[in-house]
Amino acid sequence: MKRAIYPGSFDPMTFGHIDMIERSSKIVDELVVGVLNNSAKNSLFSLDERVSMIKEMTSSIPNVTVASFDGLLVDYMKEIDATIIVRGLRAVTDFEYELQIAQTNHVENPDVETIFLTTNLKYSYLSSSVVREFASYGGDISKFVPEQFIERIYAKYNIIK
Ligand code: PNS
Repeated sequence: MKRAIYPGSFDPMTFGHIDMIERSSKIVDELVVGVLNNSAKNSLFSLDERVSMIKEMTSSIPNVTVASFDGLLVDYMKEIDATIIVRGLRAVTDFEYELQIAQTNHVENPDVETIFLTTNLKYSYLSSSVVREFASYGGDISKFVPEQFIERIYAKYNIIK
């Protein structure tokens, strides 16, 4: 049984993340979407909010679960008995950073392998920080995130549309 984790901050979850979850869940037996509880990072959405937003969007995929973790990813993976990390590569600019974390995680635990999926071309420009930037100025984010998230995101910036 191959259990994989798709880790990230998901602040907020975008169409790019959803696409990655849908595609990678077809490759592995079980996919855990692991939401990083990074207390040092000022996130727009609380951990609970991020977890429940992802649950809303993935509840129909039977082999996907959502969980949060803090500390090292490799330690959490041992806890949940996962050996595969799924990450998306949008462009060559992602590569250097992703290569470094993949190799570090593999050195920390040689049983851990990272698999990369290239992001769907439709979403290759998209990131949570782009969503936050646009939303903070009241920009149109309807092409970036599911409709049911839009109001919640604007509300974080006290924007009522
Ligand atoms: O969506 P992000 O913010 O690019 O995700 C980054 C994430 C969560 C995959 C990475 O920061 C992570 O794994 N953090 C947990 C701490 C850890 O294990 N760090 C070692 C990586 S070298």
